[in-house]
Amino acid sequence: MNSEELRNRAHDVLQRNDRGEFSTPSPHQYPHQWNWDAALIALGWSHFDVSRARTEIRSLLRAQWRDGMLPHIIYHHGASDYFPPPDFWQTHGLPHVGAIESSALTQPPLVATVVRALHERSHADSESLAFVREVFPKILAWHRWLHHTRAVDDSGLPCLIHPWESGTDNSPRWAAALDRITPHDLPPFRRRDTQHVAPDERPLAQDYERFVYLIDRGRRIGWDSARLLAESPFLVQDVMFCSILHRADEDLRALGKIVNEDTREIEKWLGQTRQVFDARFWNETRGLYLDYDVRASEPILVNTFATFMPLLAGVPSSEQVARLMQHWSDLHEYAPSDDSRFRLPTTSKNEPRYAPRRYWCGPIWIIINWLSYIGLRRYELREPAAALRADTLALLQTHGCREYFDPRDGAPLGATDFAWSAALALEFLSERDE
Ligand code: DGY
Repeated sequence: MNSEELRNRAHDVLQRNDRGEFSTPSPHQYPHQWNWDAALIALGWSHFDVSRARTEIRSLLRAQWRDGMLPHIIYHHGASDYFPPPDFWQTHGLPHVGAIESSALTQPPLVATVVRALHERSHADSESLAFVREVFPKILAWHRWLHHTRAVDDSGLPCLIHPWESGTDNSPRWAAALDRITPHDLPPFRRRDTQHVAPDERPLAQDYERFVYLIDRGRRIGWDSARLLAESPFLVQDVMFCSILHRADEDLRALGKIVNEDTREIEKWLGQTRQVFDARFWNETRGLYLDYDVRASEPILVNTFATFMPLLAGVPSSEQVARLMQHWSDLHEYAPSDDSRFRLPTTSKNEPRYAPRRYWCGPIWIIINWLSYIGLRRYELREPAAALRADTLALLQTHGCREYFDPRDGAPLGATDFAWSAALALEFLSERDE
């Protein structure tokens, strides 16, 4: 496929996932609306139809809970053959939930960053200004919920209570925290995710049991936020989630200034995060950013793609960037070598749990390449950025918009017609190497 063909294919994939008011991440595997997928899908639509892009964000925000939480799955059309179905979350009648059936978890907050990009692409016209005015308070309420309701102290760093909130469900970074959990009294359930995708490309049964167990724990306490922080057996601070939030706070502050809103609260979050970020996540001995297990009070010593995510938030110093780039260039970690031709494996190749075909255990994800690309560009690391763009486009042009890819030979994996791969193909196509 040449660039023009990829652009047409990407448009076609966005259209195939379009359900009018919202989009599915992929028609069969994920037949509802997902939070961070929706943000990226809006970015994709902005290349053709900015009004459709705004519709995607609006339909996502309509599902916001009364307490500010923005859920990770929204069941606009009720149940399907997807597991878990809406009633599995048992949120009906709870005082803090929203008006549309949804999951009771959240997902990485990309919305502010996307809304800022949409605004810039609309040349700040009056319709766009009205849109920013409309969505700003809702995004602000979500960020406030993350910095306060989900924080265990006054650092403002949010905690995640379920691996699904990280968007990287079975990443090896969560393995030790999940291993500590022994599921008991599990509700009966049947996985549906291996109907459309081969089981060896999906999470293991033991992961799924823990995913379901954590949902059951949440619903038993009515998804009460304070009790979740106090009692959830899984409680982590995710370096990627916090990097995305920090970047989103910067973008939200910019949006607030555009529409003359008070941005002092956002300023405070930005300052707080900068102050605590390194102490919480930076490991000077290894030269890596590492996630933190709040329940076990210890850093998670697993080397994954997450280490590069602070770049997109402009957090690392030049010394830290130099350390990170040593890992980027190491043949045993992230650099192409005889046993892997493409970047970026989502787990370092020398980690014992690296598995190049299994979901978040190693495969290349277009979103991670894109987030890394933004980070590299922010630091003017032009050569690695250009090489990453070239690898990403090679994968998409060879195999189309698949969900993820095997770093060894680029083999396509997971769901087909994957909407954010299409959206980000359009982003990469519209970039120019410097
Ligand atoms: C899934 O169903 O695999 C999703 O990642 C959950 O959000």
